[in-house]
Amino acid sequence: MGKDVIVACDFASAKQTFEFLDKFGTARPFVKIGMELYYAEGPDIVRKIKERGHKIFLDLKLHDIPNTVKKAMTVLSRLDVDMTNLHAGGGVEMMKAAVEGLTRPDGTRPLLIAVTMLTSISQEVMANELGIAGQLPDTVIRYAKNAAAAGLDGVVCSPLEAKVVHEHCGAGFVTVTPGVRFADGDVGDQKRVMTPEQAKLIGSDYIVVGRPITAAPDPEAAYMRCVREFVG
Ligand code: C5P
Repeated sequence: MGKDVIVACDFASAKQTFEFLDKFGTARPFVKIGMELYYAEGPDIVRKIKERGHKIFLDLKLHDIPNTVKKAMTVLSRLDVDMTNLHAGGGVEMMKAAVEGLTRPDGTRPLLIAVTMLTSISQEVMANELGIAGQLPDTVIRYAKNAAAAGLDGVVCSPLEAKVVHEHCGAGFVTVTPGVRFADGDVGDQKRVMTPEQAKLIGSDYIVVGRPITAAPDPEAAYMRCVREFVG
């Protein structure tokens, strides 16, 4: 699996996004488009960024009944993104339907990644609000295994979970890990962070990096540093 750095373009508008991307000279990073930007600008933002030569992770985290997710994924398959995702909490049947919907008539499809348990959910919330018994890390593994069984390519997880996910779901099962910070950088609101180099050592396949690159005085230099440390 090709290791890569994905830049989280957490911007509110196309204008801000292009102002940011214009700061790159020759590099064309893999970018993540999330709900805020997609809902503000619609599918056109995906086409425009794609036209500039970027790979795209469309982070919309679908979660609905299987038939609805299947049809939505078919629409997304036509956008020619490279990676997209859903919530594993929708169950195996929903995830299987998503794979079917995302597969293009020629048999190709973007990588499909599952969100297991959101990192904003604590052990207490999982037990008391969601009514899920057991330990949170076990739920993460259970959801990752469900994703693998449904034919998905991998999961979004913390870099700390990447190793155990690979142990349970196989080395080829992709781990996409946010929560990355430079050793000498600001941690911000992230609780558990790793440097790009640590994420590489622990076996992450893709790291998702936002503010260490988007808020850097020289985003291209910060991106290149990330690539050097993570990809080598
Ligand atoms: O700016 P920062 O590097 O913290 O951005 C990380 C990106 O990864 C954001 O787009 C954030 O929403 C996303 N993410 C995360 N933690 C998760 C899942 C996604 O930080 N558990």
